Amino acid sequence: MHQAGVRILVVNGPNLNLLGSREPAVYGQETLETIASRLRAIGPELGFEVAFFQANGEGQLIDALQRAQGTADGVVLNPGALGHYSYALRDVVSAIGVPVFEVHLSNVFAREPFRRRLVVAPVAAGVIVGAGPVGYELAIRGLLAQLRR
Ligand code: DQA
Repeated sequence: MHQAGVRILVVNGPNLNLLGSREPAVYGQETLETIASRLRAIGPELGFEVAFFQANGEGQLIDALQRAQGTADGVVLNPGALGHYSYALRDVVSAIGVPVFEVHLSNVFAREPFRRRLVVAPVAAGVIVGAGPVGYELAIRGLLAQLRR
């Protein structure tokens, strides 16, 4: 573990850059930047430092997760729709040996049937679903608990 605190990388996938304006009834009013600010603010108290990455492309997300090897102690990943079908994302999560908590803002199990299938989740260290923006903080707390165990 890193001396300056646990290094957490928060990765957001396709369309999550639109948070705030995208289907607010489903995803809420908060932007990714607001969520990021809150996570940065609680970092010192909980003992972590946080970096953020968002991309709409699967390959960019895979590259970011590969880079997490050696540069992050834990990852929080909202894969967006890719979580429902990307075996490449699942493979990189298995490959890197860095614990990954998967987050979905909405309760994907209460929506369309195609969202009930999560292909990355079985290789994730934990999954937080339907907690809204606070899900990112819950995932970080879960990661910290696992890393300190
Ligand atoms: C999401 C749920 C996915 O089904 C959807 O495609 C998203 C957002 C969520 O955070 O609730 O893009 O990952």
